[in-house]
Amino acid sequence: VSLAPHNSFGIVAKARELVRVRSEADVVQLLADPQLAVRPKFILGGGSNIVLTGDVRPLVLKVEIAGREVIEDGPRATIVQVGAGENWHDTVRWTMEQGLPGLENLALIPGTVGGSPVQNVGAYGVELQDRFESLDAIDLQTGRVFTLDAAQCAFGYRDSVFKHQAPEGGSARGMGLAGRALILRVRLRLPKPWKPVLGYADLERKVAETGVREPTPRQIFDWVCAIRSTKLPDPRVIGNAGSFFKNPTVTPEQCTDIIAREPGIVHYPMPDGRVKLAAGWLIDACGWKGKSVGNAGVYEKQALVLVNRGGATGGEVVTLARAIQTSVYERFGIRLEPEPVVV
Ligand code: EPU
Repeated sequence: VSLAPHNSFGIVAKARELVRVRSEADVVQLLADPQLAVRPKFILGGGSNIVLTGDVRPLVLKVEIAGREVIEDGPRATIVQVGAGENWHDTVRWTMEQGLPGLENLALIPGTVGGSPVQNVGAYGVELQDRFESLDAIDLQTGRVFTLDAAQCAFGYRDSVFKHQAPEGGSARGMGLAGRALILRVRLRLPKPWKPVLGYADLERKVAETGVREPTPRQIFDWVCAIRSTKLPDPRVIGNAGSFFKNPTVTPEQCTDIIAREPGIVHYPMPDGRVKLAAGWLIDACGWKGKSVGNAGVYEKQALVLVNRGGATGGEVVTLARAIQTSVYERFGIRLEPEPVVV
């Protein structure tokens, strides 16, 4: 089975076998088959945050669990429950149409709802964890369905318990659930009353440009879509996995040192006292914007995004990423950490 249509990088790779999972019952049934139960498994959502470096030998479970419903409408929040296979952006739009704002800053993020907690998606000042109630997942070893709240998901910056490998024989509630748990549905919490989140420079600029000081949720949704489409390539046109590296953080002392050498460096203070550096700026400063290694390249409009210029292999993407890491390290002494999962 070709995985090219199932990864946003558009990398050509194959899976030996791919099973579409449309319900919890599908997973239970699959696990009841003694031959399938013991096979190693690879869980695939929208494929928008992976780099395939070869054929995938484990059994691929393509999550296509549908469904969206309001399950609670209380005085402090509305809770919506969404099947893991639903497209994220369509879900954001659906909540807006239902008159349930709160996800507008997260418009146009590629991928599925089930993938959103895995890397705690975030943009323009809002992260999934700020709108997360709980999720249900199924343990692929025991077939048991369990619920996790935000604390149990151990959300971090583009990080969660689902990005870490499970310890052998450990409990499914332990620190790593990668490859072990399949997310079935996610419950999102949309707080009342709605409050706009406009603190990000790009959005402040929109407020200034348009003179709209009290934008509606729909207005913010439209702004976010417009901003993203100017600097992030549409994966249907140019293969990519969004930001390829996390924005690194340094101590204020390190930052002072770097500023002394590089006065133009883009940096933001964080609540915990550390300072976040714009990885895109670091990469750009090393002259990588628009450069290529084979068919893998650095996007012309945003140096943080690696793109498939046509026929790129996962190996080329990884080689390019390593070359970027080396030059950023040599110039700034900072190690960039990849954001997508390298398979
Ligand atoms: N910059 C450059 N050159 C570049 C790119 C960026 O100088 O080529 C500088 C600019 O000054 C810019 C600053 O870096 O103002 C930061 O760039 P931007 O505001 O575009 O945000 P980002 O740090 O590149 C992060 C997230 C995005 C998210 C945006 C908006 C990470 C790794 N990336 O990008 O998330 O959409 O903020 O909130 O945190 C993703 O994770 O896949 C993703 C797209």
